[in-house]
Amino acid sequence: MIRTHDCGAIRRKELGERVKVAGWIRFSRDHGGVLFFDLADCNGNTQLVFDPEAMNDITEIEQMDRTLRSFGRESVIEATGVVRERVPGTEDPRNPTGEVEVLIEKVRSLNSSKQIPFEVAEQKNSLLPGEDLRLKYRYLDLRRPQMVGNLRFRHRFLSCARQFFDSQGFLEVETPCLTKSTPEGARDFLVPSRTIPGHFYALPQSPQLYKQLLMIGGIDKYYQIARCFRDEDSRSDRQPEFTQLDIEMSFVEEKDVQGMIENMLAHVWACVFGTELTIPFPRVSLNDAISKYGTDAPDVRFGLELVDVTSIVKGVSYEVFKKIINKSGIVICLNLKASLLSSSLSEANALGRKEVDRLIEWAKIQGMGGLTWMRATEEGLSSNIVKYFSGEVRAKLIDAMKVELGDLLLFLGGSEMQTRRAGGALRVKLAKDIGLVNGKRHEFVWVVDCPMFKKDPVTGRLEPFHHPFVRPARGEIDPDEDMSAVGGLSYDLCLDGVEIGSGSIRIHDPSVQRKVFGLLGMSDEEIESKFSFFLEALGYGAPPHGGIALGVDRLISILLGCESIRDVIAFPKNKRFQSLLDGSPARVEESKLAELQLLSLAEEKSDKGDLEIK
Ligand code: AMO
Repeated sequence: MIRTHDCGAIRRKELGERVKVAGWIRFSRDHGGVLFFDLADCNGNTQLVFDPEAMNDITEIEQMDRTLRSFGRESVIEATGVVRERVPGTEDPRNPTGEVEVLIEKVRSLNSSKQIPFEVAEQKNSLLPGEDLRLKYRYLDLRRPQMVGNLRFRHRFLSCARQFFDSQGFLEVETPCLTKSTPEGARDFLVPSRTIPGHFYALPQSPQLYKQLLMIGGIDKYYQIARCFRDEDSRSDRQPEFTQLDIEMSFVEEKDVQGMIENMLAHVWACVFGTELTIPFPRVSLNDAISKYGTDAPDVRFGLELVDVTSIVKGVSYEVFKKIINKSGIVICLNLKASLLSSSLSEANALGRKEVDRLIEWAKIQGMGGLTWMRATEEGLSSNIVKYFSGEVRAKLIDAMKVELGDLLLFLGGSEMQTRRAGGALRVKLAKDIGLVNGKRHEFVWVVDCPMFKKDPVTGRLEPFHHPFVRPARGEIDPDEDMSAVGGLSYDLCLDGVEIGSGSIRIHDPSVQRKVFGLLGMSDEEIESKFSFFLEALGYGAPPHGGIALGVDRLISILLGCESIRDVIAFPKNKRFQSLLDGSPARVEESKLAELQLLSLAEEKSDKGDLEIK
């Protein structure tokens, strides 16, 4: 071994011991001829010191001094020396190795480093260079303690999850990456086949069909830490390739799958945080999520629930509300309780007129006409517009919104979807602004009672609410029923306002599956060409089964308080889904396209005006 200890390992118990360490020179300092180095690796850093006073041979001293001064930042060295106490007053209590240092006796360069393009030791996000530079030199960015910490946490989380599934009798099975398309609502990444020209594999959007085939194959508890590939629009919580913690179980109902995930997370919590996670998680119906929280992925860490007050304010003489309600719009209300403000981290104990004006401007940016407010004072509700609300309406509002002295009522009105969405954004904004959430408190919630289908607002066509394999709540679908009212046995898991997982009980009857494909607008030929293998498999005694997939990158990034999932992925793509490190996606030589027969295919198709490869 080149080293006896890693750079984070040396403590007081090693005092007087001769050790050999290796790592990167992060900092060096010259204190009147005494040279100090911070030698770092992914485990920590150790102070090395060259003290000419501690050596006798002048030639040796000069040679060592020259060698040490020749080392640049981030060059890799090996040093041998004796561990000693730091001079009193120079200890670093923030560093676990901060009480000791290694007095260098021998040193050797293992490799030099070019000048680094950014500060590897930097901890403060605000001082980091632009993300694209970090991604281009990701291997340097990964040397930063924060990035090492993120990857270490991710590793621990997943290794505890593996431990749990193993203890429950799950098999970890790998499923193919060169597959037939798995419909999860995004575009596929296609891979051309060389051996069968003109044919393509699709990279899996998820292992959905394979995990169902595993159930048909009798593997009744499966899990996988699976790579998924989706060609969709960029967002801070999306990557074109990402990781799912994917599970599937046979002979189960929704509560069994949900319970398994709750127990897994409780186990991981105990391992990783050493704390108890409260399970079961609360459940909220999709309808309630949208009406109370304005979103299908609610943040339930704070109240600020939205209340639909349309029926109460219908008939008031306030023109703004009158117009909205006449156009079949809605009015929703949020009570910013005085007690919340006084107990929050915020300095302010009431939202003054200036802050309310800022909220009105914010509402306009959200596409709303504005925002109406009323304050609860000793004299009752007060604002410049209360005169348009009768005493009876005010009393009903006070009752519906559980108003107490000092509370501030905020109203938004407009078309239903837009108003609910803006209401959802308003809750989250207020919670952030007044400090109702802190990065350490997390809350899971299941969103249940979802429909099977949704309608494309433009084409009016039915689309799956989740994916086409969700079992109808009644097990069957009657083609005459109102499809928008058909419930499906699906569930989403949300954490702090983000959907981190989604699953369902699946259709295991091939005739129901065929019917669902048909309802989704697929012709018999399309069903045959895309899914005949799957329908065939369901016909050989498919057991009742269900499962779920958690988005690992999203989950880990929320737990670590990262702004983007890119911070918990070793080699992510940037916002344009490029890898700046290796330059992918890249053009390929024509000879490669020719080998795959893509050129001739392109020419053939472009004759028909279909496809053109430049
Ligand atoms: P779904 O498509 O909802 O379900 O995906 C499950 C979870 O995966 C995460 N996720 C993503 N994370 C990063 N980048 C992306 N582009 C991305 N897309 C999705 C989310 C999401 O909740 N086969 C089903 C699961 C099942 O039914 O068992 C599926 O993939 O956190």
